[in-house]
Amino acid sequence: MKAVRIHQYGNSSVLKFEDVPVPSIGPDEVLVRVHSCGVNPVDWKIREGFMAAMARHTLPLVLGWDVAGTVEETGALVKRFRKGDRVFCRPDTSRDGGYAEFVAVRTIEVAPAPRSIPLEKAAGIPLAAQTAWMALFEIAGLKAGQNVLIHGASGGVGTFAVQFAKIAGAKVTGTGSKKNFDMLRVLGADELIDHASEDFSKKVRDMDVVFDTIGGETQAKSWGVIRKGGVLVSTVGADEKAAATHGVSGKSFMLVSNGARLEEIGKLVDMGKVSVIVEKEFPLAEAGAAQDLSQAGHARGKIILRVA
Ligand SMILES: NC(=O)c1ccc[n+]([C@@H]2O[C@H](COP(=O)([O-])OP(=O)(O)OC[C@H]3O[C@@H](n4cnc5c(N)ncnc54)[C@H](OP(=O)(O)O)[C@@H]3O)[C@@H](O)[C@H]2O)c1
Repeated sequence: MKAVRIHQYGNSSVLKFEDVPVPSIGPDEVLVRVHSCGVNPVDWKIREGFMAAMARHTLPLVLGWDVAGTVEETGALVKRFRKGDRVFCRPDTSRDGGYAEFVAVRTIEVAPAPRSIPLEKAAGIPLAAQTAWMALFEIAGLKAGQNVLIHGASGGVGTFAVQFAKIAGAKVTGTGSKKNFDMLRVLGADELIDHASEDFSKKVRDMDVVFDTIGGETQAKSWGVIRKGGVLVSTVGADEKAAATHGVSGKSFMLVSNGARLEEIGKLVDMGKVSVIVEKEFPLAEAGAAQDLSQAGHARGKIILRVA
């Protein structure tokens, strides 16, 4: 099969579009024929070797852990899926991913793909949407009526976070660039703050929850806008000492993918309550350009690689 792999860490020139063996599957796994694969910052972070200390990857490695496609083959123990089923998943990031015609995935990570959108859009959901869901509901415990501040609201994770928080009945404030405000209002943001020209720390206070997808100075300034006892949850690591100084909690996490959670998200998509914003689609052979766009850090929603 065709796949994009790395044989060494480095910039996007280390991505090799090549012929590789079709993966074999275990008894509780499915082989997914990949239609499209979402591109996420973790792809270029792993490619650069930034995660080599925490994740034990064997090179060569197929990148890409955001997949939509159809089931090609099922393991001996698999009952939930059959050949031909439309599925989506965030495969285990320690294994070969979905920049390939086929990927082997544990069934616990797989869910039926939403029927109301094409697979190239569904591929933008599993990683970013589950991250937003886990952060807001499973870690921060966001409830109706609470105030939430979402940093990086226009990004892959942020666009889902805005929608989920709104559905949950929270009052949603987002930080982003002015050019994305119209889109973010449609998704459900109540208040928007332009990170380039405004200082959010002077505009909001007493937040119950801050969802930080940016880190650095943005996180440092966030502690002071959270009410006592409130929580900041970060996709890029929270400074727990700073949190304690402000009488709030700071939580870091890594997404644990879960097909049941993903199925619930897919149902919200089919109910028309959640949309997938796509910045740009590339063919598989142009994975390097897709990653360069992600690495530039200004994506509006998701970047997709078309494999089929
Ligand atoms: N821990 C985990 O399990 C986990 C899971 C998923 C993602 N992540 C991490 O979370 C981060 C975000 O991921 P993503 O997929 O959402 O990234 P992304 O799609 O690249 O989004 C970045 C967004 O942030 C906006 N932005 C940049 N600087 C900003 C600032 N100072 N204030 C507000 N918005 C700003 C950008 O828009 P403009 O620059 O145009 O304003 C862009 O829309 C990445 O570092 C990723 O690796 C971690």
